[in-house]
Amino acid sequence: MSNPVLEAIAQRRSNRGYEARPLSTAQIDALLKAAVESPSANNAQPWHFTVVRDAALLAEINAEASQRLGRNLADIFFGAPVVIFISADPSSRWGRLDSGVAVENIALAAQGLGLGSVILGLPDAAFTGPKGPDFARRLKFPEGHRFAVAIAVGYPTVTKEAHPVAEGRIDFVE
Ligand SMILES: Cc1cc2nc3c(=O)[nH]c(=O)nc-3n(C[C@H](O)[C@H](O)[C@H](O)COP(=O)(O)O)c2cc1C
Repeated sequence: MSNPVLEAIAQRRSNRGYEARPLSTAQIDALLKAAVESPSANNAQPWHFTVVRDAALLAEINAEASQRLGRNLADIFFGAPVVIFISADPSSRWGRLDSGVAVENIALAAQGLGLGSVILGLPDAAFTGPKGPDFARRLKFPEGHRFAVAIAVGYPTVTKEAHPVAEGRIDFVE
């Protein structure tokens, strides 16, 4: 069985290398439209999306995450021209889950637009340390919001095989 949605799901990969080529306003608008069209528990929409195209700021976040994780991470953003940070209201019971739904909508929208993406949890390390509040302010997180997840998007320079599917994760009860 095949259709454009199933094909986008099947073809999506985590791309870990990007051209410097910027995305157009129309492309970014389409990604954000897909994001805000995501479902959320009780339609609370407890998220906030910050589009970052400032490479120097991304480098600062990368350096801080690297240091806090105690690993020399070359670039957690893989040179992507655009990174969308999703922050969520921590008082929302479903905020992080809703953010995960939204980030996958962005990933599939990117796939549909012929772009690549990679969902990113590692930036969290930069927001949980002493510089976290300053990064949150500079990324215009609403007051009290916490980093939930991010996604790098761009024209990929690398791709990969589909991930091996783990066995035994599906049951039927009839
Ligand atoms: C919540 C979440 C956080 C992730 N964080 C990172 C990350 O920080 N860096 C990274 O390179 N990949 C990250 N990934 C990508 C996963 O490693 C990837 O989805 C997985 O290996 C399967 O590969 P595929 O996306 O190509 O199918 C993350 C994925 C998810 C869903």
